Amino acid sequence: HVEAVVFDLDGVITDTAYYHYLAWGKIAEELDIPFNPSVNENLKGVSRQESLRIILDHGGKEDKFSKNEMEKLARQKNEYYKEMIQELTPEDVLPGIMELITEIKNENIPLGVASASKNAPTVLRALEIDHLFEYCADASRMKRSKPDPEIFLTVCEALEARPGHSIGIEDARVGIEAIKKAGMYAVGVGKNLEEADLTWKSTEYLSWTSIKNRFLTKNSMA
Ligand code: G6P
Ligand code: MG
Repeated sequence: HVEAVVFDLDGVITDTAYYHYLAWGKIAEELDIPFNPSVNENLKGVSRQESLRIILDHGGKEDKFSKNEMEKLARQKNEYYKEMIQELTPEDVLPGIMELITEIKNENIPLGVASASKNAPTVLRALEIDHLFEYCADASRMKRSKPDPEIFLTVCEALEARPGHSIGIEDARVGIEAIKKAGMYAVGVGKNLEEADLTWKSTEYLSWTSIKNRFLTKNSMA
C-alpha cells in the first residue's frame, strides 16, 4: 500500500524549470556571465540564493558582489520569473500529469508538493490544481536545500505517511538524492537520474500502474 506520493513542481508538474532558466539567463547576461543549459542543470531543485551563487561562481565573480547586491540580483530574477509565470494556465500542466494525479486520487492516496520554490503556491493556483494536493511544503521554512531530505520528510509527516511507504517524483539530481535520503522510493523524470529507483524519459510516459507495481515489488523484497 502506498501511503503518499510527493511531487516536485518545477520540471515535473509544469515546465516552469524553463522559466527559471530564462530568468536566470537574463541576470547572467546583465552580468556578462556565460550561461547555457548545462550550467542550468546545476540550478534545478536549488534555492534562489544558492542558484545565484552557482551562476556567479561559474562566471568567476563569486566575490564581486556584496550581500546586499546579491539580494538585489535574486530579487530581480524573481521579478522576471513572476512576470513569466503570469502567463501560466491549466494547459501548462505537463502531459500525463493530470492522468497520473487522477489515478492516484482515485485510490485515496494523499498527494504532496515538495518544491524549493517560494512561488510554488502561486504556480499551483495558476494551473488550477492546488486543491488536488493535501499539502504543499513552505519553501521559506526549510532550513536545508535539496539534496537534504528535510523537505520530503516534512511533507511525509504532514501527510501522516511513513517515508519508507511513500513515493517521490523529481526531475533534478539533487531532488532524487533528497528522496533517497528520506528513505522514500524515487521516480525520476528526465535525463541523468541514475540514482532513481525508476526513471522515465518524460512525464507523458509516467504510468501509475507501473510505478505502483515496481514500488510494491521493491517493498515486498525489502
Ligand atoms: C525550484 C527550482 C529551482 C528554483 C527554486 C527556488 O527548486 O527547481 O530552479 O531556483 O525552486 O525557486 P524560487 O521561485 O523560490 O526562486
Ligand atoms: Mg524540479
